[in-house]
Amino acid sequence: MTENAIPAAVTAAVAEVGPQPGPLLEVLHAVQRRLGCVPEGAIPLIATALNLSRAEVHGTVTFYHHFRRTPPGRWVVQICRAEACLAMGGDAIAAHAEKYLGVSMEHGAVTSADGRVTLEPVYCLGLCAQSPAALVDDEPQVHLTPESVVALLAGLGVAEGGSV
Ligand code: FES
Repeated sequence: MTENAIPAAVTAAVAEVGPQPGPLLEVLHAVQRRLGCVPEGAIPLIATALNLSRAEVHGTVTFYHHFRRTPPGRWVVQICRAEACLAMGGDAIAAHAEKYLGVSMEHGAVTSADGRVTLEPVYCLGLCAQSPAALVDDEPQVHLTPESVVALLAGLGVAEGGSV
């Protein structure tokens, strides 16, 4: 990400959302769509553009797990960690994905060492009837098993341990 990419993304995001009450969340979504994350450098620019304090913007970014602080990997794999998926073996799905990539989602989204895959815990994808479920770059993956999630990660070109 170049240094100019952040102000350009913030300006475009603010222009896209336009003047309306309480646009902060929409601007944050728009910045993340452009940059893949909401980097630290975007926070003062958003605060100025929306006439908010930096603390307000920072607080919102850190409150919602959806907003990433650093760019994601080439692939974003969102593993559902909500009730219906857990009841259908979701813990084993998450554990196998973490083990395969050599990462832990204990503190939220995490990217494999090679930068190819970001593994992200999410809380219900609306696919409960087909649980356990995940999304790979917004593509639903359902009725997962420990074996199928490992095959899915291998299919993204990542070797065990998170290397190519
Ligand atoms: S609980 Fe996992 S999709 Fe709803």
